[in-house]
Formats: sequence, structure tokens, C-alpha cells
Amino acid sequence: MKTLLALLLLVPLLSYEAVGHRPPGPMTQRFLDCDDPESEAAAAVALNYINAHHPHGYKYALNSIEKITVLPRRPFGEIFLLELDLLETECHIVNPLPVENCTVRPLTDHVIEGDCDVKLLKMDGKFSVVSSKCHSTPDSAEDVTEVCPYCPLLALLNDTRVIHTAADALTKYNNEHDGAYLKLLEIGRAQIQHLPASVSVEFAVFATNCSTEDARDHADDCQVLPGDLAQFGFCKATVIDQNNTTVSCTIYENQPGVTHHHLIVDHLGGQLPTLAQGFKHHDLGHFHHGTVHATSESSSAEVHAGPPPASPAVKRDVGAVLDPAIPLPPVGPSPPKHPLCPGRIRHFQV
Ligand SMILES: *[C@@H]1O[C@H](CO)[C@@H](O)[C@H](O)[C@H]1NC(C)=O
Ligand SMILES: *[C@@H]1O[C@H](CO)[C@@H](O)[C@H](O)[C@H]1NC(C)=O
Ligand SMILES: *[C@@H]1O[C@H](CO)[C@@H](O)[C@H](O)[C@H]1NC(C)=O
Ligand SMILES: *[C@@H]1O[C@H](CO)[C@@H](O)[C@H](O)[C@H]1NC(C)=O
Ligand SMILES: *[C@@H]1O[C@H](CO)[C@@H](O)[C@H](O)[C@H]1NC(C)=O
Repeated sequence: MKTLLALLLLVPLLSYEAVGHRPPGPMTQRFLDCDDPESEAAAAVALNYINAHHPHGYKYALNSIEKITVLPRRPFGEIFLLELDLLETECHIVNPLPVENCTVRPLTDHVIEGDCDVKLLKMDGKFSVVSSKCHSTPDSAEDVTEVCPYCPLLALLNDTRVIHTAADALTKYNNEHDGAYLKLLEIGRAQIQHLPASVSVEFAVFATNCSTEDARDHADDCQVLPGDLAQFGFCKATVIDQNNTTVSCTIYENQPGVTHHHLIVDHLGGQLPTLAQGFKHHDLGHFHHGTVHATSESSSAEVHAGPPPASPAVKRDVGAVLDPAIPLPPVGPSPPKHPLCPGRIRHFQV
């Protein structure tokens, strides 16, 4: 009896599926242009997420939305797959400025481009990031010299001249300024020019519980201020002819809740993390969350070198939802087959 009842209940369900009478609205695939306000809203959420989770180097700004795919999700909501083109800004991640207020580096400053694949869920009108995967690359030396033949190029972050410049500049700054004794957090970028010989380095610092006077004898005992008191800063230094050092630092107000814990852990003592050894920038690919592609977390360090892998996870999603045996119901005017993508370029083409 029970079985019969179950069968009876199943029949209407089966026929409902078989003829494809699925509810209209979110269960149908939509096509969005890359510059559609909804695409931009999704990209803004993705960008915030990337900047909040990228533990080293600089904040990135959106340059263009390359591609967007919207898939219906069972039982509710939609999945957005975004391909974003980003550009490095001049704001280090310890800089509290919102990324919209950060200056994108000009082409003459050896720009770094980021590429991200982000998967978002849209439910009840709200986006949340499911997973993201990025990598970033400096513009080629040829491209830089083409727009600016004498512009200095990015140097390796672990170049001895770079490390010495940062250390000397910070010593100079500490000696010339009262206030908390600053320690090196990480070198963000460095450029070396041969004529005139100059080394320019940008680096993040943190305030310690010491004055310069205290630090003279016990620098090793000078610690980051605990918890919410943690205070960060950012310095730019240039050494010309090996002996003329100029340095300027900005110390940011401490921000409750912002501790940059991983940065502190990775860099205490000014050591470069192994991932940055031999690189000219802090690769966005050194972090990623979830699986936009079916790549394991542990292999992320290698991934930035090659082209992004194919995305079986995405194909499965499509297969599950757009089974050819179940035709999509016709709804209103047929959607355009080719959404307008890639979208506009906000800054410049690299
Ligand atoms: C960021 O820029 C906006 C618009 O230009 C401005 O209103 C706001 O004050 C700026 N915020 C900061 C923290 O500078
Ligand atoms: C800074 O903090 C460390 C660890 O708490 C402590 O050992 C050291 O004495 C402090 N230094 C000063 C100058 O307060
Ligand atoms: C710096 O070094 C250059 C060449 O090594 C020398 O000509 C110059 O006088 C030095 N300047 C200072 C301030 O020591
Ligand atoms: C050091 O460099 C700065 C900036 O180029 C220059 O103004 C200054 O005269 C130089 N000082 C010395 C001692 O060479
Ligand atoms: C920088 O790191 C790379 C990779 O670990 C290494 O091969 C190179 O020798 C290092 N350069 C310096 C100057 O330490």
C-alpha cells in the first residue's frame, strides 16, 4: 500500500520533469552583457573578496570584465562565473584606503596584471563568493621599454641590493623620527635603474612597542603591538649612487579588527616568505579559495606559471542543469546568443 502511494505521488513529478515544465524565472539560463550593472555588481563583490583574501603585496583594481556566465542553480539561486582582468594599485594591503580610492599604477611604472576566475552564488538578490582563483604577471620588459625606454624595471624581491636598500632606508627613517620604532613587514616591489644608478623599493612596516632609543640595544625584543593596537605603515625609498638615500613613510591609524595576522607571521624579522623568493611581485596565485577549477589547494603555487587549466567542475554544472533531454521552456523574447563581452576597459589595455 505504501509503495503504491509513493508511486502515485511520483507520477505527477515525473511527468512534470519529462515535459520540461519547470518554473520560469531563475531556473532558466540568462545572458548578461559584461557591462551590465548586474555583472558589475557581481564583479565588485568578487574584487572585495580577492583584496580581502590576498595576503601579500598590493590591492588590485578592476580593469575589465572579460566574461560572465550565469547558470541556474537547483533548488534556488544562480551561479555566476566571472573572468576578471585586474591591475595592481599603489595601495599596499595594509593601506586602509578602499580600493576605489587607490591609484592604478601607470604603464610607465611596470604594471602588474591580474586574471581571476571567480564563482559566485546569487541568492535573494545577494552575491557571495563560492571560490576564486587568480594569477598575476608583470607586464613584459619589452612593453615597458616601448612606452618608456628609460623606465626602471621590476627587480627580484630578494635581490641583495633591494634588501639592503630597504634595511638602510628603514634605519635612516627610525634614526630621524621619534615615535614607535618601525620594523620591516614585507618588501612590496622594487625597481632598479642603471643610469643614473638607483634602486627604488617600496615596503610595508609595523610599529613596535619600542622607541628608537629602546631598540638600540634590544631590537629583537621589540614586538608588534598586540591585537587591535597593531599599527602598520608603508615606506618608499630610493638610493642614488649607492650612498644618497631618500625615504618617506606613512603610518596608518590603527584599525580595530585589522591585524594582518598572516603577514606578521610570514614576515616577522623581515624574512621573505619562500613563495616570494626569486619573484618580482607577490603573485595573486599564491592564494586561492575553493575550487573554481578542479585544482588542489596545495598545487596553487605552481599554477600561476601555466595557462589556467580546463574546468571540469564548470562543465559538470552545465551538464547537470542544461541536460539536452530537458529542453528549456520558451520564455518571452529569445535571449541574445552573444552577450556583449569582454566589457569596457576602465584603465588601459596591457
Ligand atoms: C574615497 O573617494 C570618495 C569619492 O571620491 C570620497 O568621497 C571619499 O572621501 C574617499 N575616501 C577616502 C577614505 O579617502
Ligand atoms: C615589548 O614587548 C616585549 C614582549 O612583550 C617585551 O619583552 C619588551 O620588554 C617590550 N619592550 C618595551 C620597550 O616595552
Ligand atoms: C656618493 O658616491 C658618489 C660616487 O660613488 C660620489 O661621487 C659622491 O660624492 C658620493 N656622495 C656622497 C654624499 O657621499
Ligand atoms: C641626494 O639626492 C637628492 C634627490 O635626487 C638630491 O636632491 C640631493 O642633492 C642628493 N644629495 C647628495 C648629498 O648627493
Ligand atoms: C632569490 O631567490 C631565488 C629562488 O629561491 C634564488 O635562486 C636566487 O639565488 C635568490 N637571489 C638572491 C640574490 O638571493
